[in-house]
Amino acid sequence: MYQEINVFDYAATLLDQIDSGIFLSTEHQNRMNTMTIGWGGITVVWGKPIFMALVRDCRATYELLEKQNAFTISVPLQADLKEALAYCGRYSLRDGDKFNRCKLTPVPGRKVAAPIVGEAELHYECQVIYKQTLIESHIPAYIKQRYYTQTTANHTMYFGEIVDQYLYHKDQ
Ligand SMILES: Cc1cc2nc3c(=O)[nH]c(=O)nc-3n(C[C@H](O)[C@H](O)[C@H](O)COP(=O)(O)O)c2cc1C
Repeated sequence: MYQEINVFDYAATLLDQIDSGIFLSTEHQNRMNTMTIGWGGITVVWGKPIFMALVRDCRATYELLEKQNAFTISVPLQADLKEALAYCGRYSLRDGDKFNRCKLTPVPGRKVAAPIVGEAELHYECQVIYKQTLIESHIPAYIKQRYYTQTTANHTMYFGEIVDQYLYHKDQ
Protein backbone atom coordinates (compact mmCIF):
# COMPACT_ATOMS: atom_id res chain seq x y z
CA MET A 1 0.00 0.00 0.00
CA TYR A 2 1.26 3.43 -0.96
CA GLN A 3 0.82 6.47 1.28
CA GLU A 4 1.45 9.82 -0.39
CA ILE A 5 3.73 12.33 1.36
CA ASN A 6 5.17 15.76 0.57
CA VAL A 7 8.76 15.78 -0.56
CA PHE A 8 10.32 17.40 2.53
CA ASP A 9 8.05 15.81 5.17
CA TYR A 10 10.64 13.21 6.18
CA ALA A 11 13.83 15.13 5.36
CA ALA A 12 14.97 15.25 9.00
CA THR A 13 14.19 11.54 9.47
CA LEU A 14 16.22 10.70 6.38
CA LEU A 15 19.19 12.71 7.64
CA ASP A 16 18.97 10.93 11.00
CA GLN A 17 19.00 7.54 9.27
CA ILE A 18 21.63 8.14 6.60
CA ASP A 19 24.50 7.95 9.05
CA SER A 20 23.78 4.28 9.69
CA GLY A 21 23.03 3.65 6.00
CA ILE A 22 20.09 3.73 3.62
CA PHE A 23 19.53 1.94 0.29
CA LEU A 24 20.29 3.38 -3.14
CA SER A 25 18.87 1.11 -5.86
CA THR A 26 19.42 1.01 -9.59
CA GLU A 27 18.62 -1.12 -12.61
CA HIS A 28 19.52 -1.40 -16.26
CA GLN A 29 18.12 -3.93 -18.70
CA ASN A 30 16.82 -6.28 -15.99
CA ARG A 31 20.03 -6.04 -13.96
CA MET A 32 18.95 -4.74 -10.55
CA ASN A 33 21.07 -3.70 -7.63
CA THR A 34 20.97 -2.00 -4.27
CA MET A 35 23.83 -0.61 -2.21
CA THR A 36 24.16 1.10 1.14
CA ILE A 37 24.99 4.79 1.15
CA GLY A 38 25.97 7.02 4.03
CA TRP A 39 26.69 10.27 2.25
CA GLY A 40 24.20 12.53 0.52
CA GLY A 41 20.86 14.03 1.35
CA ILE A 42 17.87 16.05 0.28
CA THR A 43 18.47 19.57 -0.93
CA VAL A 44 17.16 22.15 -3.40
CA VAL A 45 18.96 23.04 -6.64
CA TRP A 46 17.50 25.05 -9.52
CA GLY A 47 14.28 25.27 -7.54
CA LYS A 48 13.88 21.48 -7.65
CA PRO A 49 13.94 18.93 -4.83
CA ILE A 50 17.12 16.93 -5.28
CA PHE A 51 18.62 13.87 -3.65
CA MET A 52 22.37 14.24 -3.87
CA ALA A 53 24.36 10.99 -3.75
CA LEU A 54 28.08 10.30 -3.97
CA VAL A 55 29.01 7.01 -5.63
CA ARG A 56 32.57 5.80 -6.09
CA ASP A 57 33.47 4.94 -9.66
CA CYS A 58 34.44 1.37 -8.73
CA ARG A 59 30.91 0.37 -7.63
CA ALA A 60 28.65 -1.84 -9.74
CA THR A 61 26.03 0.80 -8.90
CA TYR A 62 28.13 3.38 -10.75
CA GLU A 63 28.08 1.21 -13.90
CA LEU A 64 24.28 0.93 -13.74
CA LEU A 65 23.80 4.63 -12.97
CA GLU A 66 25.94 5.59 -15.94
CA LYS A 67 23.69 3.51 -18.21
CA GLN A 68 20.34 4.42 -16.67
CA ASN A 69 20.15 7.90 -15.20
CA ALA A 70 17.79 6.97 -12.40
CA PHE A 71 17.87 5.64 -8.84
CA THR A 72 15.68 5.23 -5.81
CA ILE A 73 16.36 5.83 -2.14
CA SER A 74 14.75 3.52 0.42
CA VAL A 75 14.87 4.32 4.13
CA PRO A 76 13.83 1.86 6.86
CA LEU A 77 11.65 3.53 9.50
CA GLN A 78 10.23 0.70 11.66
CA ALA A 79 11.73 -2.21 9.75
CA ASP A 80 14.96 -3.63 11.13
CA LEU A 81 17.13 -3.97 8.02
CA LYS A 82 20.51 -3.54 9.70
CA GLU A 83 21.82 -6.89 8.49
CA ALA A 84 20.77 -6.20 4.91
CA LEU A 85 22.30 -2.71 5.07
CA ALA A 86 25.56 -4.18 6.35
CA TYR A 87 25.59 -6.80 3.58
CA CYS A 88 24.69 -4.35 0.82
CA GLY A 89 27.40 -2.01 2.10
CA ARG A 90 30.04 -4.69 1.90
CA TYR A 91 29.23 -6.92 -1.05
CA SER A 92 28.81 -6.02 -4.69
CA LEU A 93 26.37 -7.04 -7.37
CA ARG A 94 29.49 -8.66 -8.81
CA ASP A 95 29.30 -11.15 -5.88
CA GLY A 96 25.67 -12.01 -6.69
CA ASP A 97 22.13 -10.65 -6.52
CA LYS A 98 21.85 -8.77 -3.21
CA PHE A 99 18.03 -8.54 -3.26
CA ASN A 100 17.91 -12.32 -3.37
CA ARG A 101 20.72 -12.88 -0.89
CA CYS A 102 19.20 -10.49 1.69
CA LYS A 103 15.59 -11.53 1.01
CA LEU A 104 14.71 -7.99 -0.04
CA THR A 105 11.79 -7.42 -2.41
CA PRO A 106 12.50 -5.28 -5.47
CA VAL A 107 9.28 -3.34 -6.16
CA PRO A 108 9.28 -1.47 -9.50
CA GLY A 109 9.48 2.32 -9.19
CA ARG A 110 6.28 4.18 -10.09
CA LYS A 111 8.03 6.85 -12.17
CA VAL A 112 11.64 5.77 -12.74
CA ALA A 113 13.33 2.64 -14.05
CA ALA A 114 14.76 1.48 -10.72
CA PRO A 115 13.30 -0.69 -7.95
CA ILE A 116 12.60 0.29 -4.36
CA VAL A 117 13.42 -2.00 -1.42
CA GLY A 118 9.93 -3.20 -0.48
CA GLU A 119 10.77 -3.91 3.17
CA ALA A 120 11.73 -0.29 3.89
CA GLU A 121 8.98 2.27 4.39
CA LEU A 122 10.17 5.66 3.09
CA HIS A 123 11.03 6.00 -0.62
CA TYR A 124 12.19 8.63 -3.11
CA GLU A 125 12.37 8.11 -6.87
CA CYS A 126 15.06 10.16 -8.54
CA GLN A 127 15.92 11.09 -12.12
CA VAL A 128 19.53 12.16 -12.56
CA ILE A 129 19.66 15.70 -13.97
CA TYR A 130 23.29 16.51 -13.25
CA LYS A 131 26.44 14.65 -12.33
CA GLN A 132 30.01 15.61 -11.67
CA THR A 133 33.08 13.60 -10.79
CA LEU A 134 34.83 15.29 -7.88
CA ILE A 135 37.82 17.37 -8.94
CA GLU A 136 40.71 16.14 -6.80
CA SER A 137 42.57 19.44 -6.81
CA HIS A 138 39.50 21.04 -5.19
CA ILE A 139 39.50 18.63 -2.26
CA PRO A 140 41.36 19.73 0.90
CA ALA A 141 44.50 17.67 1.65
CA TYR A 142 43.19 16.32 4.96
CA ILE A 143 40.07 14.97 3.25
CA LYS A 144 42.11 13.56 0.37
CA GLN A 145 44.43 11.74 2.78
CA ARG A 146 41.50 10.17 4.52
CA TYR A 147 39.19 9.31 1.64
CA TYR A 148 41.14 9.37 -1.63
CA THR A 149 44.36 7.40 -1.70
CA GLN A 150 46.02 5.88 -4.76
CA THR A 151 43.97 2.74 -4.33
CA THR A 152 40.54 4.29 -3.75
CA ALA A 153 38.27 5.38 -6.57
CA ASN A 154 36.95 8.88 -6.93
CA HIS A 155 33.32 9.78 -6.26
CA THR A 156 30.81 11.01 -8.77
CA MET A 157 28.16 13.27 -7.33
CA TYR A 158 24.69 12.67 -8.74
CA PHE A 159 21.84 15.17 -8.48
CA GLY A 160 18.67 13.09 -8.68
CA GLU A 161 15.55 15.19 -9.11
CA ILE A 162 12.98 13.69 -6.75
CA VAL A 163 10.06 12.90 -9.06
CA ASP A 164 8.07 10.75 -6.60
CA GLN A 165 8.05 10.15 -2.85
CA TYR A 166 5.88 7.99 -0.63
CA LEU A 167 5.60 5.57 2.24
CA TYR A 168 5.16 1.96 1.15
CA HIS A 169 3.70 -0.75 3.38
CA LYS A 170 4.49 -4.10 1.83
CA ASP A 171 1.99 -6.35 3.58
CA GLN A 172 -1.06 -4.09 3.61
C1 LIG B 1 27.22 2.62 6.14
C2 LIG B 1 27.79 2.58 4.74
C3 LIG B 1 27.72 3.70 3.95
C4 LIG B 1 28.25 3.69 2.63
N1 LIG B 1 28.16 4.83 1.88
C5 LIG B 1 28.62 4.82 0.59
C6 LIG B 1 28.45 5.99 -0.23
O1 LIG B 1 27.86 7.01 0.17
N2 LIG B 1 28.99 5.93 -1.49
C7 LIG B 1 29.66 4.83 -1.97
O2 LIG B 1 30.11 4.84 -3.14
N3 LIG B 1 29.78 3.70 -1.21
C8 LIG B 1 29.27 3.67 0.04
N4 LIG B 1 29.38 2.54 0.82
C9 LIG B 1 30.03 1.34 0.27
C10 LIG B 1 29.13 0.54 -0.71
O3 LIG B 1 27.85 0.34 -0.15
C11 LIG B 1 29.77 -0.85 -1.00
O4 LIG B 1 31.04 -0.67 -1.59
C12 LIG B 1 28.90 -1.75 -1.85
O5 LIG B 1 29.44 -3.06 -1.78
C13 LIG B 1 28.82 -1.34 -3.32
O6 LIG B 1 27.99 -2.23 -3.99
P1 LIG B 1 27.92 -2.38 -5.58
O7 LIG B 1 29.32 -2.72 -6.08
O8 LIG B 1 26.96 -3.51 -5.80
O9 LIG B 1 27.46 -1.08 -6.12
C14 LIG B 1 28.86 2.52 2.12
C15 LIG B 1 28.93 1.38 2.94
C16 LIG B 1 28.40 1.40 4.22
C17 LIG B 1 28.48 0.16 5.08
